[in-house]
This record gives sequence, C-alpha cells and structure tokens, in this order.
Amino acid sequence: MKEKVSIIGAGNVGATLAQLVARSGLADIVLFDVVRDMPQGKALDLSESCPLWNVSVRIKGTNDYSDIKDSNIVVITAGIARKPGMSRDDLLTTNAAIIRAVSSELVRYCPDAVVIVVTNPMDAMAQVVLGGTGFEPNRIMGMGGILDSSRFRTFVADELGISYQDTEALVLGGHGDQMVPMPRYTTVRGIPITELMDRDKIESLIERTRNGGAEIVGLLRSGSAYYAPASSAFQMVKSVLLDEKRVVPCAALLNGEYGIKGVFAGVPVILGSNGVEKIIELQLDDSEKAAFLDSIKSLERLLSKI
Ligand code: NAI
Ligand code: 2OP
Repeated sequence: MKEKVSIIGAGNVGATLAQLVARSGLADIVLFDVVRDMPQGKALDLSESCPLWNVSVRIKGTNDYSDIKDSNIVVITAGIARKPGMSRDDLLTTNAAIIRAVSSELVRYCPDAVVIVVTNPMDAMAQVVLGGTGFEPNRIMGMGGILDSSRFRTFVADELGISYQDTEALVLGGHGDQMVPMPRYTTVRGIPITELMDRDKIESLIERTRNGGAEIVGLLRSGSAYYAPASSAFQMVKSVLLDEKRVVPCAALLNGEYGIKGVFAGVPVILGSNGVEKIIELQLDDSEKAAFLDSIKSLERLLSKI
C-alpha cells in the first residue's frame, strides 16, 4: 500500500505542497478544506497532471475528515494568512481555534501520524497541536527554519553572485520577527560568510531574512509566500517518508535542550520516519544565546495569550 499524506487546508501553501508531493510520486494525497468543492477541483486538476508527470499517485480532494484516516503524515496549512501590515502573531486567536478543531480530527482518524505544522504563528500552533492531540512530541514539528534558512541562502548567493546550491545557512528560534539567523553557521561550501563579506553587509542580509515573509506579503498585497514555504514543507515530508535523516532546522519541543523546557522552537533536528529523531544542541556563544533566549521569550509571551 502507498504511503498517505494528508494536507489540511487546500489554499496556496496546501495546494502547492500537494503538487510537489504528487510530482514526487512518493505518496497518495488527501487535500482537505472547509470550502465546498474547492479541494475536489484542485485534486482533479492535479490528478489530470499525473499522466504528464508519469506518476501513479491518487489525489483526493474532500470536505470530509474521515478521508484522512490512517495517514502517515498530516501537514496542517489551514487558517488565515497575513495581510500587509499584519505580523504572523496577529493570526494567533483565529488560527488557534482552527488548529484545535483540526487536532481533534487527527486524534480520531490518524492517531499514529507524523504532524507537520505550517499555519502561523507556527511555533505556537505546534504547541496547540501537542495540547489538542496528546501525541508524542517527536511526532509534532513545525516548518519555519528551513524556509528562513533558504531565504538567507538566497540573499547570500545573490549578493556574492554564486550558485544557490553552494550556500548553507542556519536560522534558529521562533519563526517570527525574533528569529535568529546564525552567520557563524552560514557558509559557502564550508567557507564562513564572515570571510566573504563585511559585517554591515551580513547584518543587512540578516535583516532582510527576518523581514523575508513581510517583504513578500508587501509585494503580493493579498496573501503570503507559498512556493518556498511549500518546498520547505516538502523537504520535511520527504525526509520522514523516506527516513532520510536530513539535518534541518524545525520547530521541535525542547525538553531541556538549550536550557529550555516545554516550548516549541526552531533548532537543528534529525528528521526520519519517527519524526524528530534527535535535537542537535549547538554550543551558542553569548550573543547567540541572548538572541535565542529573546526569541523564546517572545514565543512564551505569545503562548500566554492562548
Ligand atoms: P490560504 O488562505 O491560501 O489557505 C488557507 C486555507 O485554509 C484556505 O483554503 C481556507 O479555506 C482553509 N481553512 C480555513 N479554515 C479551515 C479549517 N477549519 N479547516 C480546514 N481548512 C481551513 O493561506 P496559505 O497561504 O496557504 O497559508 C496558510 C497558513 O500557513 C497561514 O496561516 C500562513 O500564515 C501560514 N504560513 C506559514 C509559513 C511558515 O513558514 N510556517 C509559510 C507560509 C504560510
Ligand atoms: C512567511 O514567512 C508568512 O510565515 C510566512 O512567508
């Protein structure tokens, strides 16, 4: 039997992710949304592409939660997205209610699934899934760090006029304005960027990374980024489905790592078929530690509001 990936929310991120999973041929897909007929329409359109992609996956669009039964992976993209002037945190109350409702359906229909949370504010929403499902924490993770790191990589490559593939970057902390881009772990084929550009330039790229989501919201005027977010979520789906053990930054529940307990925050993890198989604890220097703790404090402030 094929693996099954269910995507809750068939909007921009959800549908784009469905396309990536379909093209990979790795799993059957269920695309769920509360809007009538829309997920069915997108699923049909995607199915009609499968002969052209030479893949034999089945894609079902639905408004009925029972269709997600026994999914191996569920990706949650349901909720409202940012509008110009809104921060990710402004979405808190509306999306928390949606995620609570989704969580009870997960308990009912796929109690063994690995859950990837995309809906913003993502770190807080991962916490809501934990509270709402009671699943083991290693099976719940949030997508943010891969996206933020990919943005940082893009800006570094554009600045240096080199291939995107030759850049590596790491962004830790919450997927919010207090995220922590880490120049010390940002390299070009192993060469630290500190050897390739001056401090002011690095600071400006860090600022652009922190503002990366808002930059796109400002340009789109309606809705937020979805190509890079869906590609980032796909990297997580693939690592879990194929037990790739990719080392990627994701929101994971900290249990004493980095001196923090009981909060989801972006850290490097090993992702495999059991979800978050290990949290990698880096030795942060004083300023990195301070920035990481600031980010955790702002996550805790957010959590206290729900
Ligand atoms: P969108 O508005 O295109 O899609 C959201 C979909 O959720 C809509 O189709 C809507 O009908 C559906 N929905 C609303 N309530 C629902 C419910 N109760 N059950 C099922 N579906 C429901 O938004 P988009 O661009 O796809 O973004 C989705 C979410 O992901 C937003 O919260 C956005 O901020 C977040 N996001 C997070 C990123 C990250 O890095 N963690 C990156 C990009 C987006
Ligand atoms: C982003 O970073 C909105 O979180 C989303 O694009």
